[in-house]
Amino acid sequence: MPAGNATEETIAILDFGSQYSRLIARRVRECHVYCELVPYDAPPSNVAAMHPKGFILSGGPASVYEEGAPQLPPYVFESGLPVLGICYGMQLIARESGGKVVPAHQREYGLADVERLGEAPIFAGLPTKFTVWMSHGDRLAAVPPGFAILASSPNSPVSAIGSLDKSKGIYGLQFHPEVVHTPLGRQIIENFLYRVCGCRGTWTPSSFIDQSVAQIRERVGEGRVLCALSGGVDSSVAAVLLHRAIGDRLVCVFVNNGLLRANEVESVLASFQHLGIQIEYVDAADRFLSRLSGVVDPEEKRQVVGEEFIRVFEATAARMGPIEFLAQGTLYPDVIESAAAGDSAGAARIKTHHNVGGLPEDLRFQLVEPLRYLFKDEVREVGRELGLPDEIVSRQPFPGPGLAVRVIGEVTAARLATLRAADAIFRDEIQRMGLSQSLAQYFAVLPSVKSVGVMGDGRAYGDLIVLRAVTSEDYMTADWARLPYEALAHISNRIVNEVQGVTRVVYDITSKPPATIEWE
Ligand code: XMP
Repeated sequence: MPAGNATEETIAILDFGSQYSRLIARRVRECHVYCELVPYDAPPSNVAAMHPKGFILSGGPASVYEEGAPQLPPYVFESGLPVLGICYGMQLIARESGGKVVPAHQREYGLADVERLGEAPIFAGLPTKFTVWMSHGDRLAAVPPGFAILASSPNSPVSAIGSLDKSKGIYGLQFHPEVVHTPLGRQIIENFLYRVCGCRGTWTPSSFIDQSVAQIRERVGEGRVLCALSGGVDSSVAAVLLHRAIGDRLVCVFVNNGLLRANEVESVLASFQHLGIQIEYVDAADRFLSRLSGVVDPEEKRQVVGEEFIRVFEATAARMGPIEFLAQGTLYPDVIESAAAGDSAGAARIKTHHNVGGLPEDLRFQLVEPLRYLFKDEVREVGRELGLPDEIVSRQPFPGPGLAVRVIGEVTAARLATLRAADAIFRDEIQRMGLSQSLAQYFAVLPSVKSVGVMGDGRAYGDLIVLRAVTSEDYMTADWARLPYEALAHISNRIVNEVQGVTRVVYDITSKPPATIEWE
């Protein structure tokens, strides 16, 4: 993966397969330092191209002493740059430096109180004792020569190590500073970035906008860009950024794929009229729905929708052409997820994100993805900085393949109409009751299950509607929202009474993990 936004300060995070690797990246960005997460076996030249100011080594499921376990790439120590190893990362540092890693008597999982031993820049400003989150099966039996123990807990006598030569800036933590359960974890990461690596925190929305505008101009030259607008936060921010960079050489296309929510076309068109950006509206609902006819597999739906989008864009570009570039609102989590797909240590591939995985091979556009290195909340910050109205910036995420992933089984016009009507009631009521602010996402799902009900005088065999509402900070984990019973009762009543064919409503009470947010 090439270095994304070459800023003067970049931290390279090597991913050894931990579930928390992305969280490390989130925390670093929160400290206003740019970072990229790369597989531990990424080509060294790719990592060198980032000109990192330091390395963070993630945790991972393997044991360093196992055969075939991921190794520390030699360039990390050869660089002479600061290194922070977390869990498996610390064990790698220890083993490479002559320490001894052994299986722990008992796997340690949960909160622990550690006590600092002496002074170290990485713990600057922290109290002598603090609480951390441990999750490991191996431990350090012997500290490598040239290192000191910096913190200790009753179960993990070696909870943190640091190079005796402070100028080397090599640290290892047995615990996870990146998770919220380590309350002072953010301070530890900030200390590593600022005090050890010498970062200053130059990664801000306005620095991103300046850089990105320059990069877009350089890449696009005198060309024209077609921006696929969905009305969601990502593509809206991408559009405004592109408009700032190339003005009227941007052609925004909003495709009605027949998979949008109630009133979506009208509200998106109105918002962009407000922003002074011209939109080419294409109603392609019929052609999407006919391509989806008979398709039930969710991955296939994504592929079909992704490909059909491209065909519509090509037709639009031919009509309005010449247009060489296609812009998409791809985000960093999509990129990481796709990059990890072929990587044995990477998180397992769960879904194809259609804007990354599903592009046809004969794509006639060059891609411009100005948000490819941003997390969702960074996109929102950039959107605010660009002056987008709150109704767009705080809009809940909506999948590219739209309601196709919320109608389980075959997508037909009739089933879409049922889902749309139920979803509109749910959304209206949540907003009317003032509950939307606390929710990350809330929507209805139509599973392919029928259930018996009593409607009027007879038994009816009708549709089931699932309501899903979640709280989440980053969409990587989520919890089901504790909506008031009265609200659920009222919404359920309205749906069964007003949406024809629906005989039952249920509320999804599963968190992510183990479930995902969408049902598919
Ligand atoms: P999951 O279901 O994986 O979703 O927990 C995480 C977030 O991603 C959104 N999502 C998608 N967005 N194309 C998209 O553009 C997709 O295919 C897609 N699938 C899920 C989902 O709404 C949630 O915000």
